Amino acid sequence: MREVKVSLFGFGNVGRAVARVLVEKGKLFRENYGMDFKVVSISDTSGTLWLPEGVDLREALLVKETFGKLSSWTNDYEVYNLTPEEAVKEIDADIVIDVTNVENAHEWHLTALREGKAVITSNKPPLAFHYAKLIGEAERRNVPYLFEATVMAGTPIIGLLRENFLGDTVERIDAVLNATTTFILSRMEMGLHFEEALRQAQSLGIAERDPSGDILGIDAGYKATILHCVAFGPKTFDDARVKGIAEITLGEVQRARKKGKTIRLVATVERGNITVEPKEVPLDSPLSVESHENAAVIWTDLLGELVIKGAGAGLKETASGVVSDIVKAALTITGG
Ligand code: HSE
Repeated sequence: MREVKVSLFGFGNVGRAVARVLVEKGKLFRENYGMDFKVVSISDTSGTLWLPEGVDLREALLVKETFGKLSSWTNDYEVYNLTPEEAVKEIDADIVIDVTNVENAHEWHLTALREGKAVITSNKPPLAFHYAKLIGEAERRNVPYLFEATVMAGTPIIGLLRENFLGDTVERIDAVLNATTTFILSRMEMGLHFEEALRQAQSLGIAERDPSGDILGIDAGYKATILHCVAFGPKTFDDARVKGIAEITLGEVQRARKKGKTIRLVATVERGNITVEPKEVPLDSPLSVESHENAAVIWTDLLGELVIKGAGAGLKETASGVVSDIVKAALTITGG
């Protein structure tokens, strides 16, 4: 049995979903891969908690869920006030996981890679702005840098593009990559105005309290930029042309419907071109998704058209991508 030490940054909804999978599937990982994942530290906005030997991860989950922050656990364990940079250097871990939304996290991703630690992230801005630097560092150090959950949650479009089509030339990707806008647009098709649909998305926990990143197309733009980097080579979000759904009217949505079409926030990614904008798509198109689904149509010269469709948001769905990357990284590190 090989023990793999994991350091978890971000203990919000996604971080806790990842921790829960590691707890609940521990036996499966031991049996299937001969690996025992040991979470050695957890960081949230209140600080960094070292998990002493013998402390069950379930206890940390309980503390966070009861008190809202790790630093409430001071009776038993010290929670240190470290920057992620300091924590990444000091903690003895094989794998660093970033499930935060911290924008400048690329700095401590680079530090972790320089320390020889694998990095796994669901955090989009580091990749959307610093892909070339991060991948370059990971390759130089020969350590895994994995980011499946940044695009389409656990639906494995990143793995598909990174590990396949080795003789193909990818020509174009059209994709619906944001679930919040799909929810709002489909509620508008039912007759709700934009603001009402947005309020509903917020009350159901689909949209963030500050939903501007989704509505303005920034979230989809980050994801489309990451797809460009993987399929065609480095670009940054600054190269993307992005228009969100804030100006779409009920009339436009309903007129599209009468023509047998639906408006969706569509990303188009070709070599040198990243565009995100609302578009009418036929109801029988793979891009006519509902609810929290995402879809992408990938064209290659040899294969032609390939459709990948599945969950694009959600906690256990995002944990699926992160945990899959944890196992992949661990297999690489241990030579399995
Ligand atoms: N806010 C995103 C969406 C989910 O609505 O698709 C996280 O990527």
